[in-house]
Amino acid sequence: MKQEKIKFIRYPGGKQRILNLIIPYLPARDSIIGRFIDPFLGGGSVFFAVSPKNALLSDINEELINLYIGIRRFPSKIWEIYKSFPKTKKAYYEIRNMNTEGMHLAFRAARTLYLNRTCFKGMWRHNSNGQFNVGYGGQDRRWVITEEVLREVSKKLKNATLKCSDFEPIIEEAKEGDFIFLDPPYKPGERELVNSHYVYNKFSYHDHQRLASYLIRATKRGVKWSMTTSSHLDILRLFQGNRIIPLQKGTGKSPGILTNNSGEVLILNYWEDFR
Ligand SMILES: C[S@@+](CC[C@H](N)C(=O)[O-])C[C@H]1O[C@@H](n2cnc3c(N)ncnc32)[C@H](O)[C@@H]1O
Repeated sequence: MKQEKIKFIRYPGGKQRILNLIIPYLPARDSIIGRFIDPFLGGGSVFFAVSPKNALLSDINEELINLYIGIRRFPSKIWEIYKSFPKTKKAYYEIRNMNTEGMHLAFRAARTLYLNRTCFKGMWRHNSNGQFNVGYGGQDRRWVITEEVLREVSKKLKNATLKCSDFEPIIEEAKEGDFIFLDPPYKPGERELVNSHYVYNKFSYHDHQRLASYLIRATKRGVKWSMTTSSHLDILRLFQGNRIIPLQKGTGKSPGILTNNSGEVLILNYWEDFR
């Protein structure tokens, strides 16, 4: 299968850098009978690499989903607006401070793309009023993308349903024949997971427990899924009985065997090799 790397946004925790370790364990495009479902879409690197015929893509980040919906519909218009935004730091803060209420979808998407490409390290952070509050990072990453990239993204999204949602209802609607790829927020090897319940805007241990219980239900319905997550023991305990592949370099040759330095793992609820 041709593995495509489309990167139109910068995304913290994106899987671009380890796609070559993940993709061999996932079903190829033609082996997915139903839909490819991604409840934690982010930058969508796995979706673009698999390039499925039919997809359900979702994320809790509303601005991000609006960006995808906008690009699917208006790739060229968004490019024109994106190009027109000035390059100064002052302009960045003016555009960042705009009120998005009632804003045309194309303008809103172009604004999000511009903020993502010129903010500090491509971070996504909002204050308690939901306003994007990452500082200016510079113009270095702005012209890495082109109108063709946006057109390509638009084409890839034509057969996808896009939703802004918590992961629960998205996993719940998966049926036998669908394939779910999950990349929830985590920090590789993160410690103190159990004690970090109440941090604002953070994916807590309770969320991982919630995720585990919905994936157990999906497995019972005959749904196949694969997830990248932290190799922290508190997390692995939640997914006992599944296949665990360490992802870090140097440990990948012994699938199922965890070593001390494997910070990230791929968990699969199936044992067959698709490739
Ligand atoms: C690690 S990122 C996914 C990165 C993506 N796989 C990539 O390669 O770019 C995790 C995503 O989960 C989303 N998220 C956080 N909490 C969520 C929740 N409760 N339900 C659905 N999505 C959530 C975040 O907005 C973020 O986009």
